[in-house]
Amino acid sequence: MLATQYFAKDLFKGKTVFVTGGGSGINLGVAKNFAALGANVAICGRTQEKLDAAAAELRSFGTEVCVASADVRDSAALEAAFEKSRAEVGAMDVLVCGAAGNFLAPAEKLSPNGFKAVVDIDLLGSFNATHSAFEQLNETKGSILYISAGMAYMPHAFQVHVGAAKAGIDMMMKNIALEWGRFGIRANSIVPGPIEGTEGLKRLSDPAEKARLISAVPLRRTGTADDIGQVAAFLASPLASYMTGCVVVCDGGQNLPGSALFNTTAEQVLRAQQG
Ligand code: COA
Ligand code: NAP
Repeated sequence: MLATQYFAKDLFKGKTVFVTGGGSGINLGVAKNFAALGANVAICGRTQEKLDAAAAELRSFGTEVCVASADVRDSAALEAAFEKSRAEVGAMDVLVCGAAGNFLAPAEKLSPNGFKAVVDIDLLGSFNATHSAFEQLNETKGSILYISAGMAYMPHAFQVHVGAAKAGIDMMMKNIALEWGRFGIRANSIVPGPIEGTEGLKRLSDPAEKARLISAVPLRRTGTADDIGQVAAFLASPLASYMTGCVVVCDGGQNLPGSALFNTTAEQVLRAQQG
């Protein structure tokens, strides 16, 4: 369900949103929610066909769309992408740092270059985007949204690289919020839970175990890209104009259980006590 169900359809009319990694998955869902609310949208990524298909979807909302091919690890390429989007769809009011890489790897088998690849895309890539966007955001008094993950604050097996990268992103977000508040620029993170139909979920979970995965989510369902798009629309809107430096978790409560083993055992003990 798009955010237009509850927000005014022209909430972001005349505004521009740039989404790194916006060619697919959650980030494309975020871009679509902004487009549906009237924003002009720019996206970047490394795969031209993916970006072109995403742009066609975004244009169906009737807004201006800019596509730029850029690897977020390459700050010069990002700067060029931001200049292109400024020329085509205007100075950005919202930057969404969503580009990321992930795979399961036991720490003892993960090569230093494998660790570096993820930290470079997620953390350094988010800094590159933030740094290159400063002038435009300063001009628009805009805001930044970082797409984080539960791995930033709960350890997950075989995710040492992702945990380090996303924890870094959330701390960077707080530093940026602290430093750039004086320019009127806000910064916040969104932590998605398991989002249906995404590359991330495909890489980290076994479809045959979906029922078990859902049973560990307090709200008993996987999330949708629109769930995240709606939170993004709220955080970038005037409704959240006094919110900065926040990590907003949108995961159906997935990261609350902590020690799943403790919870399962506690449930068994409680059942036994109750007869
Ligand atoms: N397990 C362990 N190591 C892996 C790996 C895996 N599944 N996939 C890649 N690596 C290692 C490589 O072996 C290499 O290390 P090495 O040089 O020591 O061998 C290093 O990571 C870089 O690999 P490379 O393929 O050159 O990286 P890339 O920059 O082309 O791609 C990835 C980045 C690896 C993150 C790739 O999976 C990707 O592009 N992902 C984007 C999409 C995605 O992950 N979506 C989900 C987001 S949640
Ligand atoms: P996805 O579709 O693979 O999204 C990642 C996007 O980033 C892709 O479009 C990818 O396109 C782009 N990208 C990757 N490396 C890049 C680089 N070096 N430069 C520029 N773009 C790059 O996966 P997703 O699952 O929807 O994930 C989106 C975001 O949500 C990520 O930040 C992820 O960590 C976060 N998240 C996902 C979940 C989940 O359940 N899926 C849960 C928590 C957090 P190219 O490969 O073509 O460049």
